[in-house]
Amino acid sequence: MSWSRKCRVDLAKTRDNYLILSIESSCDDSSIAITQIKDKKIVFHQKISQEREHSSYGGVVPEIASRLHAEILPQILEHTKPYFKDLKAIAVTTEPGLNITLMEGLMMAKTLSFALEIPLISVNHLKGHLYSLFLEQEAIFPLGALLVSGGHTMLLEARSFNEINIIAQTIDDSFGESFDKVSKMLGLGYPGGPIVEFQAQKGNDRAFELPLPLKSRKDFAFSFSGLKNAVRLVIQKQEIQSKAFVEDICASFQRVAIEHLSKKTQIFFEKNSKSMDSWKYFGVIGGASANLVLRNEIQRICDYYGVTLLLAPLEYCSDNAAMIGRVALESYLRGEFGDFNLQVKPRVSSL
Ligand code: KG4
Ligand code: ZN
Repeated sequence: MSWSRKCRVDLAKTRDNYLILSIESSCDDSSIAITQIKDKKIVFHQKISQEREHSSYGGVVPEIASRLHAEILPQILEHTKPYFKDLKAIAVTTEPGLNITLMEGLMMAKTLSFALEIPLISVNHLKGHLYSLFLEQEAIFPLGALLVSGGHTMLLEARSFNEINIIAQTIDDSFGESFDKVSKMLGLGYPGGPIVEFQAQKGNDRAFELPLPLKSRKDFAFSFSGLKNAVRLVIQKQEIQSKAFVEDICASFQRVAIEHLSKKTQIFFEKNSKSMDSWKYFGVIGGASANLVLRNEIQRICDYYGVTLLLAPLEYCSDNAAMIGRVALESYLRGEFGDFNLQVKPRVSSL
């Protein structure tokens, strides 16, 4: 069976009850959503995070994540059965992510597509994060964006659904990952982002002098491994990790990590302000976009440049299938379907 031919779908002829089922399993969140094609409404969304199971390892263990997806996804799917008769496509995250966890979602998607005789839609997870800004609504272009997640740190420029350029990315660790690693070093658990942010609220963010990454480089790149190692050295030197020490090192680390993001983002805004076809909207997306200090900092830059800040609802900042469904709507209307040869791609070079 193959639906890979391109054939646009007429939205006017799409019935109100037509739906897309979407599956997300790129990392440690098992999630399924059902979205109405006509009005983009999310009629079902469930996500079960595996944070507790990975917490004692201080990070995601791919084999455990994959086994848990194999258990959890069918349980969530059970609740979606009443919608099966109206499904018009099955969407699934195929890139980027962990190879064996992506495979779990893809296997389920292929099985459903075959059994229900409806097409498959392959979705890029990062595009999903971008479209988390436009759940249940029309997308706005052109748009600048800062993507901050556990796997990626990127500056993006989006001109349309199929024109999304990566302007900058990290040369080593990602922003969210550096929070996870600092949390692990301090024995605070996983995911580190919300834990470190919470500790940082009570600390002195100037208590430790930490190096600002890529300080003298004016080009567009991010780096967090040097900062992470500087934090490691401070922790190793500290004999007793008092409550105040933990709060201070978290606050100092967070301040520098955000200052690094902010400095590079500001260069992006400055360039944009001089461009003929500049964007007037800027999104902060990905799991780490929940960080309030980061949000305030980007808001400050947006205010300075007269750009409107867009944020996803908090519950859709981290990985979820609703954002995958939102991208799938666009692909469906463009007739962009995958076939049974669809494969997962752990790494990504474009969106
Ligand atoms: O987008 P996401 O759910 O998964 C990936 O696609 O990677 O992002 C998860 C990442 C984790 O590294 C987590 O620690 C980080 O986002 N994160 C945060 C915060 N909340 C989640 N990082 C910093 N501050 C936060 N408040
Ligand atoms: Zn993500």
